[in-house]
Amino acid sequence: MPTLNWSSKSITGFEHADLTLESVMYPQGSGYPDAVPGNSLFLGDNLRVMASLLNEYENQVDLIYADPPFFTNKRYPARIGRGEDSRRPQEWQKTEGYADNWENPDAYLDFLYPRLLLMHRLLAPRGTLYLHLDWHADAYARLLLDEIFGRDHFLNEIIWTYHGPSPIKTAFNRKHDVILVYTKGVTYTFNVDAIREPYHPNTIKTFASSSKAGFGKVPNLERGKVPEDWWYFPVVARLHSERTGYPTQKPEALLERVLLASSNIGDLVADFFCGSGTFPLTAARYNRRFLSGDVSWRAIHTTRKRLAAALSSPMSFFYENALLIPVCEKDLGIKISNRVISIKNPAPLDYWEVDPNWDGKIFRSVSQASRPNRSAEIPLEIKMPVTLTNVCVRAVTVDGSQIQSNVKSVPNPPDGF
Ligand SMILES: C[S@@+](CC[C@H](N)C(=O)[O-])C[C@H]1O[C@@H](n2cnc3c(N)ncnc32)[C@H](O)[C@@H]1O
Repeated sequence: MPTLNWSSKSITGFEHADLTLESVMYPQGSGYPDAVPGNSLFLGDNLRVMASLLNEYENQVDLIYADPPFFTNKRYPARIGRGEDSRRPQEWQKTEGYADNWENPDAYLDFLYPRLLLMHRLLAPRGTLYLHLDWHADAYARLLLDEIFGRDHFLNEIIWTYHGPSPIKTAFNRKHDVILVYTKGVTYTFNVDAIREPYHPNTIKTFASSSKAGFGKVPNLERGKVPEDWWYFPVVARLHSERTGYPTQKPEALLERVLLASSNIGDLVADFFCGSGTFPLTAARYNRRFLSGDVSWRAIHTTRKRLAAALSSPMSFFYENALLIPVCEKDLGIKISNRVISIKNPAPLDYWEVDPNWDGKIFRSVSQASRPNRSAEIPLEIKMPVTLTNVCVRAVTVDGSQIQSNVKSVPNPPDGF
């Protein structure tokens, strides 16, 4: 069988991440304080994070969606402004997003290959991997996946097409991504009825008007059809309600199809390159448990902020020591009165949350407030669902700094608590 070789290719032992539990989010108080979190988010290099998860999760993950850097040799800034004119990119307020820069193809393959090996080990016997790339590296990845999963375990090469402006004038516009789908075993989850779509109106008309249409095969027109292996979904730049500002964010509809096809309610799914968090968000909406992570603090912050509004059960957040943005003490002007906590806005805030009984170690967030995607206004008051004893408020500013303010012991809990 043909295999891909490069001079530094190797399968050596994997270094484990030194992970610390930083916080637990109880979305809008749900499950506080006793529920055991079924979801986890990791800030760290996913090579080390995945290696450290092998102990607990080898052969346990039902579905992995992986959307790594594509080998484009570009940097991708994140947009943090609100209400800006989309036609004037020179005026957008930006900050660091992530880098996709490599010295040469070997360096990229040294990055991708061991991560694919670990994903294969984490997958359950009936599990599926969706690896999202484009023309830059899809051919290399196809050979790597044939080697790791076995050629016979190839399921699909999905073409995701979209449209939009392009600077290219010397070739056809490159307007599709490639999603390579491999299964770990011979039997695997594929929920065909969960992803059917309506037949094209022309097909329905043809069958209504001619008994000979379909050469003897009559499709079940009401049930709908299984989508082809090419999918059209608009890019997030065209979906104003979804845009977080995080670069290369994927549309929710695309990941919904992946999730519904290849997992069931209660399954454990994973995305270790989660970026803005589209996949864990989709998992939360459809009642799957997830492991998710990214090496960028902005990605983790964006993901947590999105999940606060979508999750219905708790999530743990772990970090690798060197990567966490330090939390600075700052007076947030906390006021507590009659079931409501309010703060002042010392710097433009993107997100804030409250631990009603801060133990000085693990932040247990029971109430969260976020700056909406399309407005600069963040609510500065939160209604608390639980008794307050030792309040700590944490906030993330628009530029990504973390600040924290405490009210040590609330002596006379306000009426009604
Ligand atoms: C293409 S983006 C993912 C976008 C995401 N699917 C979304 O919908 O927003 C790739 C992500 O991989 C992350 N990444 C790159 N190298 C990583 C590593 N070694 N460990 C974890 N994440 C990494 C980047 O920070 C970036 O957020």
